[in-house]
Amino acid sequence: MGAMNNDPITEHNKKTWSGRFSEPVSELVERYTASVRFDQRLAEYDIQGSLAHAQMLSRQGIISQDDLNAIQRGLSQIQDEIRDHRFVWQQELEDVHLNIEKRLTALIGDAGKRLHTARSRNDQVATDIRLYLRAATDDIISLLKAMQSALIDLAEQHITTVMPGFTHLQVAQPISFGHHLMAYFEMLKRDIERLIDCRKRINQLPLGSAALAGTSYPINRELVAELLEFEGICQNSLDAVSDRDFAIEFSACASLIMTHLSRLSEELILWMNPSFGFIQLADRFCTGSSIMPQKKNPDVPELVRGKTGRIHGHLVALLTLMKAQPLAYNKDNQEDKEPLFDTVDTLTDTLRIYADMLSGVQVNPQAMRRSVLRGHATATDLADYLTKKGIPFRDAHEIVAKSVQYAEQKNCDLNDLELKELQQFSALIESDIVTVLTPEGSMESRRHTGGTAPNQVQAAIRRARHWLELT
Ligand code: ARG
Repeated sequence: MGAMNNDPITEHNKKTWSGRFSEPVSELVERYTASVRFDQRLAEYDIQGSLAHAQMLSRQGIISQDDLNAIQRGLSQIQDEIRDHRFVWQQELEDVHLNIEKRLTALIGDAGKRLHTARSRNDQVATDIRLYLRAATDDIISLLKAMQSALIDLAEQHITTVMPGFTHLQVAQPISFGHHLMAYFEMLKRDIERLIDCRKRINQLPLGSAALAGTSYPINRELVAELLEFEGICQNSLDAVSDRDFAIEFSACASLIMTHLSRLSEELILWMNPSFGFIQLADRFCTGSSIMPQKKNPDVPELVRGKTGRIHGHLVALLTLMKAQPLAYNKDNQEDKEPLFDTVDTLTDTLRIYADMLSGVQVNPQAMRRSVLRGHATATDLADYLTKKGIPFRDAHEIVAKSVQYAEQKNCDLNDLELKELQQFSALIESDIVTVLTPEGSMESRRHTGGTAPNQVQAAIRRARHWLELT
């Protein structure tokens, strides 16, 4: 049992920090506390941060130019080794930072040991995560934009395609399918705006805070910030090494994005059900059943809906991770990485698949129109028609309800009733009612900004393309 370990500390089991320890950690504790298994993916950013730090140390006369040259040479070799999968990661060395530092020292000797002057792993890891998350945020924004383009392209083909708009998942009013799709453009637009805003808070430099209180060396944090393209410097060393609110905020942005994608997925699934028959997804996004030969299952949207749960879970994990930590750094924070990495990976894959899936959607306008005509979808239009002729809306509502009841008894749609039949319910109904009660007439009458009239959908698409160009 590792826990019963009574071994002395030897050259072999010695840690970077074990100078004051009298016994080595057990193998189980070593595995439990190590993060290299997952934080090695921060290596690229760790090296970037170290290069900037070393440059600053040399500029400030804290290390020599020779040391800087050696550090640059060593880190560049390590970068190559990692890229070519030749780097040997060791659990005994705990995390990405100590693995790289140890290798650097093996390659260049004492200069490698000087790199950690005026720095701690606490400000180092906070810097690494911020660099990582900044890059991830930029990637996700690009992917969101690609998905918006796919939505706009599809919407543009269906500006005049009529579909039933639903409330309570019951047919409500006729709308343009393009208008429906553009609703998702708006959601993703806000998602992008949120990420752009979050990025400002991600993009602040913690380095220089050292373990928690800052450092007694004459460092230049502004220079490091400039080298790493941070737009500002964390203003309090305790806060800088300990808070992960920027990661939580990112995770909240990710949760909202997944929520939006999950809603769209739910709709795709419904629309693909033969009872709706509004769309078909390309075969490459579906699978069959091993027992029911007729099945074509919308696996991809179902998984998007399902994976939304774990993204929300990661948000809760990060919030909970933070909530009871006293200042400043605590090892708890090591647990921020796996949820964050999985959030980025899941979101990235989801968005990549989605843009492609949307461009392969096949639309069945006849099925959509048929569904509009089965739902008395123009009942509100009839009520509005009567109101415009002077009948108070509540009374008009009553008149239309009676007409709908009549149509139901006849087993037809409100829109199928003859003028004579309609006139039984109000003498104010005249022949101009015919266009009002068609799905197209109803759609075209909603002609204000944000409405479903085709000219408005066209305008929305124009605004959307313009926004995409500027963002
Ligand atoms: N692996 C650690 C983390 O992810 C790095 C910082 C460790 N700092 C320390 N004082 N043990 O948070």
